[in-house]
Amino acid sequence: MQKDNPIGMFDSGVGGTSILKEVYKLLPNEKIIYLADSKNAPYGSRSQQEIIDLSIKNTEFLLEKGAKIIVVACNTATTNAIKVLRANYTVPFIGIEPAIKPAALKSTNNIIGILATKGTLSSELFSETSKVFVQNTKIIEVVGEGLVPLIENGDLHSQKMISLLEKLLKPFIENQIDYLVLGCSHYPYIIPQIKRILPDNVSIIDSGEAVAKQTKAVLESKNLLSDHSLTEKPTLYTNKDIEVLELLLDNKNLQKYRISYLDF
Ligand code: DGL
Repeated sequence: MQKDNPIGMFDSGVGGTSILKEVYKLLPNEKIIYLADSKNAPYGSRSQQEIIDLSIKNTEFLLEKGAKIIVVACNTATTNAIKVLRANYTVPFIGIEPAIKPAALKSTNNIIGILATKGTLSSELFSETSKVFVQNTKIIEVVGEGLVPLIENGDLHSQKMISLLEKLLKPFIENQIDYLVLGCSHYPYIIPQIKRILPDNVSIIDSGEAVAKQTKAVLESKNLLSDHSLTEKPTLYTNKDIEVLELLLDNKNLQKYRISYLDF
């Protein structure tokens, strides 16, 4: 595999761009191709087999584009499909999993919350990792039902979003968590709205920066980091509207990304 080949990334939709931003910030000399499978979002309410099939389709697309590594920028696809992907392809995969461990280590009252999709919270991988890391910590789990479709519509600030968040975040407030783990790559886009509802002492953790660091470490260990000093705009493909990606990335103003529609 060539050093100049791109980093491939995929998500069920627009949310994984929260990870893309971190990867691009840390590795500005890499070519990056991001695939937003928005037509098939949300993955979180699909069966494991459907999530595996879609993840394979996305992987094939990125491999055709020459991806030297694939970042699964979706907790739901990671927790449900990464084992199958690793068993079937030789390309290295970086997954994103809820940051339960750092939250449990930092929590002072040993009560943490996790907001994620049904697919992530019910996955075997999630229960395996959460059991290992958090023997002495109480984890309050909430399925963020309805959040991904709103974010996919770019509907971040509506009354509908705020009312939904007030309802979903209630168990965290009642159980007095001091750390909230965002277990879905879409949710970093609503951190300000979440903060306004939760008490001030609650810290929020997501996994974007950790995923970027891990991507760099794996490329380094395989001698696959790009030698280029010139930056190239990351290319994003979506099978739905490009407008929401433009909005979330503030691309009309910043022009940092190439975003196109592709029928896949
Ligand atoms: N970004 C995906 C995740 O991290 C969203 C899942 C979905 O499409 O429901 O889990």
